Amino acid sequence: MKFIDEVEIKDKKIILRCDFNVPIENGNIKDNTKIKKSIKTINYLLENNNAIILLSHLGRVKTREDKINNTLLPVAKELSKFLNKEVTFINEPVGMKVLNAVKNLNYGEIILLENTRFCDYPEKLESHNDLNLAKYWSVLADIFVVDAFATLHRNHSSVAGISKYLPTYYGLLVKEEIINLNPLVENIQRPFTVFMGGAKVDDKLIYIKNLLKKCDYLLIGGGIANSFLFACGFDVMDSLCTTDEITISEIKELIKEYKEKIILPIDFVIEDNKILDLNTKSVNKYISYFQKSKTIFINGTCGVFENKRYANGTIKLFQSLRDIDAYKVAGGGDTLNAIHMYNLTNYFSFLSSGGGASLEYISSDHLKAIDYIEKV
Ligand code: 3PG
Repeated sequence: MKFIDEVEIKDKKIILRCDFNVPIENGNIKDNTKIKKSIKTINYLLENNNAIILLSHLGRVKTREDKINNTLLPVAKELSKFLNKEVTFINEPVGMKVLNAVKNLNYGEIILLENTRFCDYPEKLESHNDLNLAKYWSVLADIFVVDAFATLHRNHSSVAGISKYLPTYYGLLVKEEIINLNPLVENIQRPFTVFMGGAKVDDKLIYIKNLLKKCDYLLIGGGIANSFLFACGFDVMDSLCTTDEITISEIKELIKEYKEKIILPIDFVIEDNKILDLNTKSVNKYISYFQKSKTIFINGTCGVFENKRYANGTIKLFQSLRDIDAYKVAGGGDTLNAIHMYNLTNYFSFLSSGGGASLEYISSDHLKAIDYIEKV
């Protein structure tokens, strides 16, 4: 892996792949953390007199309407504010407008192309790593820089494919993430405890399986805990819980195989027949595991933290980290939302901008896009 500050990159046209997949409501950006985190690399490349063509995805694009709701225009405006510089927005990811804009792009200038996932409708080109699409983007520039840490678990055209056609380097955000996540990947100080929360278990099961091979304790909260409790035979009433029988039987197997490692909650905040947060005994039990740990990774929350009435479990659990002498990392959109919402930033050693990406990296020591680029 080569980073941009290890080589000389000057007076070049650069395709820079960032992750600007931020929550946007009615054109307003709700959390600009990912945009802020991209600024260091953008400024570094601009200071070296490069011209930048920015690429990013936003949301998932499966229909024509999705294109209207997932434009990157608000991101261009936000970036301009941070950089104090015009960021020209091209309202297509490919096409004549792109070619013209790139032709007229001078060194020191920056443009942002429209959402790369617009190329997923009507045909899934971007997400299927279509190499013709990757080649199209590659002819726009001399160099490809990948700084979209939070998307490195996706082997897509704009993240990985372009590397087939251009000299490829990683940006300063990827460097920061890899350095700070490495204590959870190599020479892990033990005990290593993971808290996993969040709504749905289905897409996290693969990570849970891999994490169980690595960690000493896996504490479970949020909607995921309901599915584990259900698999143990508890009545979770109308709470969020997987209905997929295969998932339930896989969870049963895991509980059997890792009965010492998997730690489940014991009391709850319940309303309208739904489990909405973990209660005091569960949180205290989890804190006692944190207290004996040397490395802690948090992905997810205890309950529906967006509503203050169901945020106590999450707040108490995260606050306990203040007095715990361990390497403490959190990752994931919702997790970071909760941390920012309740001012808990200082209790962590590092906050990762990647949700799925940090989970994939920590659980398997690999990231699909890096494996592709480095041809592992
Ligand atoms: C994220 O927010 O986790 C990344 O941007 C990846 O988004 P995706 O899950 O839609 O691929």
